[in-house]
Amino acid sequence: MVAMQIAIDGPASAGKSTIAKILANQLGYIYVDTGAMYRVVTLAALRAQIDINDEDAVTQLLPTIQITFAPGEPVQRVYYNEQDVTEEIRSATVTKNVSAVSSYAAVREAMTNLQRLIAQDAGVVMDGRDIGTTVLPQAQVKIFLVASVHERALRRFKENQAKGSNETLAEIEQAVQHRDELDSNRAISPLRKADDAIKVDTTGMSIDAVVQKIKGIITNIA
Ligand code: CDP
Ligand code: CDP
Repeated sequence: MVAMQIAIDGPASAGKSTIAKILANQLGYIYVDTGAMYRVVTLAALRAQIDINDEDAVTQLLPTIQITFAPGEPVQRVYYNEQDVTEEIRSATVTKNVSAVSSYAAVREAMTNLQRLIAQDAGVVMDGRDIGTTVLPQAQVKIFLVASVHERALRRFKENQAKGSNETLAEIEQAVQHRDELDSNRAISPLRKADDAIKVDTTGMSIDAVVQKIKGIITNIA
C-alpha cells in the first residue's frame, strides 16, 4: 500500500488523537497532533505574559517558538524549545485561551507550514480542525469525527478525573461547547467538515469500534 495522508478533523474530545495515534501505530505512519502545536503557542504567550487578545504581540513571539514531538507512551511527548511541556499544554488555562490564539492569521500560517513540512515525505495521520479543508486538501482519507456534546464532555471529565482535576462535568461541557463555537466561527480555516470527508458519529462507540470503522473506510479507499 502506498503511504497515504489521513486527515482526522472534528470538535473537541471527539476522540481524534486517540484514534489517530492507534491508526498511525498500526500503519507505521507518523502521527501529527496539530492541536498540540496551537497549545504550545498559547503556552508560550501565557508564559511571556502577553495579552492573549493582542494579535501583534502573539505574532511577534512566533519566531522564538520551536515545537518538536517525540514518541512516548501512553502519549506522544511535546517539546517547546526543547523543554517537555506535554502535560502543561493540557492545563485548563491553556485550553481556555487556545481558541483565541488559533484564530490569528500568522499563527495559522506558521503552524500550517510546519504541518505540511512534516507530511511531505512520509505517511501521516494528522488530527485537528482544518486538516482536510486547508492543511492537506489532497489527503486520500478524510474523516470528520463527531460525538454528542454530552458524551465528549463526559469523556474529557473521566480523563481529567484520572489526572486529579476537580473541574465539574457541567464546567467541562460548557467549555467544550464554547471552544467549538469559537473554532467553528473564526474567519480563517474554521472547524468544518471538508466536502469529501466522511463523517463518523462516535456517540456510544468504543475506541476499538471507531478504529475498526475507520480501518474499513481506509481499506475501501486504498
Ligand atoms: O484535544 P482537544 O480537542 O481539546 O483540542 P486540541 O486538538 O488539542 O486543539 C486545541 C485547540 O487548537 C482547538 O480548540 C483549536 O482552537 C486549535 N486547533 C486549530 O485551530 N486547528 C487545528 N488544526 C488544531 C487545533
Ligand atoms: O483528540 P480529541 O480531543 O478529539 O479527543 P481524545 O483526546 O482522543 O479523546 C478524549 C477522551 O475520550 C480520551 O480520554 C479517550 O480515551 C476517550 N474516548 C472514548 O472514550 N471513546 C472513544 N470512542 C474515543 C475517545
